[in-house]
Amino acid sequence: MSRARILVVDDEAGIRQTLRGILEDEGHSVTTAADAVSGSALMSSDEFDLVLLDVWLPDRDGLELLSELREGDFTTPVVVISGHGNIDTAVKAMRIGAQDFLEKPLALNRVVVSVENALERNRLEQEVRELSSRLDPERHLIGDSDPMRKLGNDLELAARAESRILITGENGTGKELVARRVHSLSRRSSRAFVEVNCAAIPEELIESELFGHVKGAFTGASGSRHGRFEQADGGTLFLDEIADMSLNTQAKVLRVLEEQRFERVGGSDPIEVDVRVLAATNKDLEGDELPAGRFREDLYFRLAVIPLHVPALRERREDIPALVDHFLRRFAAEAGRRPKTVDPAALERLVAYSWPGNVRELRNLTERLMIMAPGDQVGLADLPPRIRGKGAIAPVADDYGSLKEAREAFERLYIERCLVAAGGNVSRTARELGIDRRHLYRKLRAYGIDPGREK
Ligand SMILES: Nc1ncnc2c1ncn2[C@@H]1O[C@H](COP(=O)(O)OP(=O)(O)OP(=O)(O)O)[C@@H](O)[C@H]1O
Ligand SMILES: [Mg+2]
Repeated sequence: MSRARILVVDDEAGIRQTLRGILEDEGHSVTTAADAVSGSALMSSDEFDLVLLDVWLPDRDGLELLSELREGDFTTPVVVISGHGNIDTAVKAMRIGAQDFLEKPLALNRVVVSVENALERNRLEQEVRELSSRLDPERHLIGDSDPMRKLGNDLELAARAESRILITGENGTGKELVARRVHSLSRRSSRAFVEVNCAAIPEELIESELFGHVKGAFTGASGSRHGRFEQADGGTLFLDEIADMSLNTQAKVLRVLEEQRFERVGGSDPIEVDVRVLAATNKDLEGDELPAGRFREDLYFRLAVIPLHVPALRERREDIPALVDHFLRRFAAEAGRRPKTVDPAALERLVAYSWPGNVRELRNLTERLMIMAPGDQVGLADLPPRIRGKGAIAPVADDYGSLKEAREAFERLYIERCLVAAGGNVSRTARELGIDRRHLYRKLRAYGIDPGREK
């Protein structure tokens, strides 16, 4: 077991001393507290891998304190120590979430074993959580189109290299999903994935969020706090909406990337971390933000060692049917219902629509269809007007003077739709229509269809 940070809360100085001695001999770092008030403050600081907690504290019952903390978000493993060990206390301790129970007088061997077990179990639990989240279908990128397949390949290669990655793409294209996937395919997958949304955090708080702060660093900083960089130690830090970071914060982040080292806000001790940074943005850093001086060039080059671009959904319309199917199944499973299907006319409109909100928009729509569409099959009438479009899809007889005219109108529409579905790719459209590519080009010219416009 590697070095762990252990907190001992016990009112007897002798016990604190003994425990410190044996645990430090085992290579751990030990902090002590003599009462519930200071112990509880340290426990909530989230800085420890394990707590040894006495039941009889001068100011409070240790089990009561533990039970209260467990109701919040306190998940650190705790081994309870008691001088008045009896079965009842032991059972109660375990029930409120203690890992183990030790009786005084402490048998030193037993202490060491119990501590190592608790640490090991915690490590395993973390690993299991990470593994099961890796199997989570939510983590998989749906889409078999050429650009998505390329992205999948690049992503796998990039994930294994330790390099920094800059993920770009419009809103809702799946940038965060890509970041999580990179983490779970990387060597760091059993360690933390920590996300910071730079756009959501007010400027004056972002530094403390990233780097943590020491007690009293600013008004309201009543305790010290780990920053996200420290939380991500050994793992991955995902800086989302990176373009929203101020120039001032950019400079500080740059320094961490260069030195893998920083200080907490208000602190002077350098903290070293081993963090892989992934960043994402929907802005065009190279085209807009760098020339405008809103983003530091040196930071850009540090972050974008490997750029991964997630294409907009309208550039890979072939993926739409699979995504619709995926989300319909998922929302059906969540609601415990049978998944709905989509009739061909409705699917055609879904494929032809431009999806400015990309996969997120499609996901939200399918969720709504799952709940709101009355039948088992989603039809045109269930689609919102922006997607259903104006014109009827079937040609109306009166609109055409002859069979030839009607046939040509239909052919034109049909080719346009196929072209849209193939993301404007003429060769693929020709294959799908079962005609020669040159033949298709002649048709496109004849009908005045511009393949570039159909992307
Ligand atoms: N290829 C995909 N397969 C399955 N689900 C996807 C795919 N792409 C995106 N999603 C889902 O769509 C939603 C939006 O994706 P995500 O949050 O990753 O997008 P984003 O690019 O980070 O968006 P924003 O720029 O708005 O932050 C999520 O629920 C995500 O799981
Ligand atoms: Mg996002």
